[in-house]
Amino acid sequence: MNLYHIQNLEHYFQVYRHSVDQPEQFWEQIAKKNFVWQKPWNTVLNWNSDTAEVRWFEGAQLNITENCIDRHLETRGDKTAILFEPNNPKDPAEHITYKELHTRVCKFANVLKDKGIKKGDRICIYLPMIPELAIAVLACARIGAIHSVVFAGFSATALSTRINDAKCSMVITSDGSFRGSKTIDLKGIVDEALEETPTIENVLVVKRIHSDIMIKEGRDHWVQPLVDAASAHCPIELMDAEDPLFILYTSGSTGKPKGMVHTTAGYMVYSAYTFKNVFQYEEEDIYWCTADIGWITGHSYIVYGPLANGATTVMYEGVPSYPDWGRFWEIVQKHKITQFYTAPTAIRALAKENLEFVEIYNLTSLKVLGTVGEPINEEAWHWYNDNIGKKRSPIVDTWWQTETGGIMISPIPFATPTIPTFATLPLPGIQPALMDEHGKEIEGNQVDGRLCVKFPWPSMARTIWGNHQRYIDTYFSAFAKKYFTGDGAFRDATGYYRITGRVDDVIIVSGHNLGTAPIEDAINEHPAVAESAIVGFPHDIKGNALYGYVILKETGETRNHDNLRKEINQVITEKIGPIAKLDKIQFTIGLPKTRSGKIMRRILRKIAHGESDQLGDISTLLNPEVVEAVIQEAL
Ligand code: WTA
Repeated sequence: MNLYHIQNLEHYFQVYRHSVDQPEQFWEQIAKKNFVWQKPWNTVLNWNSDTAEVRWFEGAQLNITENCIDRHLETRGDKTAILFEPNNPKDPAEHITYKELHTRVCKFANVLKDKGIKKGDRICIYLPMIPELAIAVLACARIGAIHSVVFAGFSATALSTRINDAKCSMVITSDGSFRGSKTIDLKGIVDEALEETPTIENVLVVKRIHSDIMIKEGRDHWVQPLVDAASAHCPIELMDAEDPLFILYTSGSTGKPKGMVHTTAGYMVYSAYTFKNVFQYEEEDIYWCTADIGWITGHSYIVYGPLANGATTVMYEGVPSYPDWGRFWEIVQKHKITQFYTAPTAIRALAKENLEFVEIYNLTSLKVLGTVGEPINEEAWHWYNDNIGKKRSPIVDTWWQTETGGIMISPIPFATPTIPTFATLPLPGIQPALMDEHGKEIEGNQVDGRLCVKFPWPSMARTIWGNHQRYIDTYFSAFAKKYFTGDGAFRDATGYYRITGRVDDVIIVSGHNLGTAPIEDAINEHPAVAESAIVGFPHDIKGNALYGYVILKETGETRNHDNLRKEINQVITEKIGPIAKLDKIQFTIGLPKTRSGKIMRRILRKIAHGESDQLGDISTLLNPEVVEAVIQEAL
C-alpha cells in the first residue's frame, strides 16, 4: 500500500487505520522511503506522557535543507523552487530554480558563519515576503542555527520581547518593505527594538526599498556585498533528529508569548507528508499559499513542506487589494496557479468587492482551494466554492495550530466529500478526542467537546523555549496524558469534525491569534486607565474584532473619550502592533467579577455580542450590580 500518497476515500481509511493501529511502523515506513538521512534512527518514538517529553526518530541525523534543496538538484535543478511575485505588478516576477536556491542559501549560510553564527545560536528574522526571507530561513537550517521569524507587522516592543526571550545574537531585516501603495520603515522598528536587546551582536540588512536608513558601524551590515563575496559551497551541518529547527512565537491566553520549539526530523516528515496529501500536489503544479512566512502556515506550507516535495512555491510580497481587489486572481491567471491556500478573513474581504474583479480572470488552472486560521463561515465558503473554484475545485478547510506544526484535520481533495464549515476527518497519524468538562472522553457522534489529541504525532512542538513547565501546564494538564488544543469542536453523525472556536482567552482576529492578557497589559499602561478587559465580538470581515471595557482611574474623568480611545489604540500599536487594535472601547465604571476576583468574560462577551438578555445566572458574582451599569453603557 502506498502510504505517502492517498488516492481516494477507501485508501484514506486503510491508511488511517494502519496509522492508528501501528503508528510507529507507519511513520517509520514514510520516513524511510521519502527522505534522505545521513544516519538512520534507533527508535521511532519515545514518549513520556508524565513529563510531556516526546522524541521522534531518535538517533537519526539529517539536514532538512538537503531534503528541501540538494536532493532535487539532479532531477529538478532547473525547475522553479520559489516563484516570487513582487508587490508592484509592473515589476517582473522572479523564478528561482532549485540550483539557484542552492547557491543563494549556501552563500547566505556562509555569511552567517563569517559573522560567527554556530549551530544552536538563535537568529531573529524580521523581513517582508521577499525571497531573502525564505533564503535566510533555509540558511539558518543549513548550519543548524535556530531561526525565530517575527512577522514584520509586529511592533518594536513585540520584536524586542521575542529577541530577548530567545536571546538571539543576530537580526536579519531589510531597509523597509512595500505594502500596497505604502512603505514601512522596518529598519527603524528594528533600531528601536534593539535599544532593549543586549544579546544582539549583528544586524544583516537586505536592501529592498532603497530608503535612507541608519547604519550603526560595527553592528549593521548590508547583506548583498557579503553575499557576493561569500563562497557558494556550504556543506550541511549534521543535525540530530531532535535538534531544534526553529522557534515561533504564538500568543497565549496569559502572559508573554510562547516560543514554540519545533525540531528537525519529525517536523520535516510531517510537513512534507501533509503538504503532499492535503494539496494532492503533483510535479507540474504551481502552488500558492498567501500566508506570511512570519506565521506557522508560511513555515510549513510555503517553505518546508513544498520544498521537501520538490514543488514550485509562490511567495507574494503584497496585499490582496493592491493595485485593486483583483490582484490575487490576476496572479492565479498569470502563473497558472493550481493550488490556492488562504485565510477566511481574506475570502470575506474579497467577497465584499465587485465580482468583476474575479470574472475578468481565467481561473481554470485551479484544482484545489484551501483555508486556514479560523472557522470559515458558510457564506464565505460558498462564495469561494462558486466564484473561485467554480464548484470544480474541492475546498480543504484545514484545522491546525502553530503548536501542531502541520495540518491535523482536513479533507483530502478528491477523496473526502466536503461539507461547508467542517474540517472533516483527521489526517493519518492524528487521533483526536473530544473531552467533557470533567476530563472524560466523549464517545460516539453528534457530540460537542474540547478538542484534544490522544497520541503524539511527528511535528508537535516539543516545548516552550526556556519554559517546559509552561508547556506542560498549557497543553498537558487540562486532560491527563492528552494534548489540549484550546479549541472546541463538534463531531457529527459521520465522524466529521467542525471546529467551533477557542475555549480559552485567545481571540482570533483576521486569522491572527491574540491573547487577551497582553492587550490588557498594554492598555493598562495608559496613565488614565485603571483596569481593562478584552473580549471578541463578531465582525463581517475579520471574523472577530476586539471589544475593550476600560475603567478609567479618576471618576468624573473629563477628558474627551474619543481622544482617549485613540490614545489607547496607540499604546496597543506600540506594544503589540496594529493587528491588536480595538474596534470598540467602552468606558465603564466596573467589571463583573467572581468572588475570587476573576473577570467574568462570559458576561462581557454576551454584552459585546448584543445579547445582554441572555446573561444567565449572575447571582454568584461579587458585584452583580455592576452588570446593569455595563449594559446601560454598552455601545
Ligand atoms: C484556529 C494557524 C477553525 C484554531 C495554522 C486554532 C481554525 C488556531 C482553523 C491556531 C480551521 C486554525 N477552522 N479554526 N480550519 N485553523 N484555526 O497557531 O482556533 O495561528 O487553535 O495556527 O486557529 O492558530 P495558529
